[in-house]
Amino acid sequence: HAPDRPLKSFARFPVGCAVTAERLADPADAALIARHFSQLTPEWEMKMEYILQDDGTFRFDAPDAIAGFAHEHGLRLFGHNLVWYAQNPVAFRRLDGKPKAFADAYRNYILAVAGRYAGQAVGWDVVNEAVAEDGNGLRACLWSRNLGQIDYIRRAFDHAHEADPTAVLFINDYNLESLPKKRASFVRLVEKLLQAGAPVGGVGTQTHIDAGLEPGALRRTLGDLADFGLPIHVSELDISLNRAGPAWRSRAGLAEAQLRLAEEAAEAFSTLAANQRFAFTLWGLKDGQSWLRSPKENRHPPWDAPLAFDDAGRRKPVFDALAAGFAGQ
Ligand code: G3I
Repeated sequence: HAPDRPLKSFARFPVGCAVTAERLADPADAALIARHFSQLTPEWEMKMEYILQDDGTFRFDAPDAIAGFAHEHGLRLFGHNLVWYAQNPVAFRRLDGKPKAFADAYRNYILAVAGRYAGQAVGWDVVNEAVAEDGNGLRACLWSRNLGQIDYIRRAFDHAHEADPTAVLFINDYNLESLPKKRASFVRLVEKLLQAGAPVGGVGTQTHIDAGLEPGALRRTLGDLADFGLPIHVSELDISLNRAGPAWRSRAGLAEAQLRLAEEAAEAFSTLAANQRFAFTLWGLKDGQSWLRSPKENRHPPWDAPLAFDDAGRRKPVFDALAAGFAGQ
């Protein structure tokens, strides 16, 4: 293919990238993002940790900048995320154990945030990572403690739908491809929500995958999720050494695994029915910007390279593997 074809040009569905306002303010990164992708997911600046201040006020400067960039470049904006166990803002902790005030603040937050981007965001991760890490049932969290285990999820979807009836509302989780038990719990949760009439419009599988993932796991996962007949979002792809065994702990081993997994993920997604391919999102632009390389995570050797562009902005073999998988070659 032409040496500089945009990644999105190989796919018959939106190809997304996780971004920050800082990245979009960098001319080189902004140009790469606008050229290769057709959808943006704010990596953290549309979450409570950024928006909701300790005094209960909201700040929208960064998420507005991301939404503005998407609008200016004709890119789809995907909201991430409204409710997540990992976010424990002071403004809500202060209401812990005060059910009425907590429920009002919860509805107010979701209406304010989803309402602000109504008509622009094509969809939202309404609730992120509700299933327990080991797949045994659902996580206990600030939200489930104050609103009920299923009810906090049901309310979040109802509030988001009230705020933006046009957005496709997703429930999103990870390790669905590596932990079949977790995938089964996720499927049961979605079934329960749909049966209860919750406006779940799509399912997200993050797909943070490890070099050691066994062949076929991605195809099986997408197949299970396709049974709902809902749009599917591969929402946070990166390919790394997370829990991979020693066999992959070498540059060559990782490179080989990344090519295999990138093509398998892209191909499996490309073979889904058109109405079930919501989008395929990479969790970042350049290797060095990956969350996996952040000081907090720092779980990976410096040469770990989970994404499609190197730190100089050059495409890597993973780029070509994704392109081949998207094009079904
Ligand atoms: O850049 C600011 C810095 O200026 C500030 O001083 C500092 C103070 O805490 O924060 C820095 O921002 C950090 C940001 O990443 C940098 O991009 C935030 O603290 C930190 O919380 C944030 O981490 C993000 C994390 O979610 C928590 O929101 C990661 O970037 C992001 O990759 C990660 O993404 C999650 C998905 O949302 C859900 N699935 C798992 C995935 C990986 O954990």
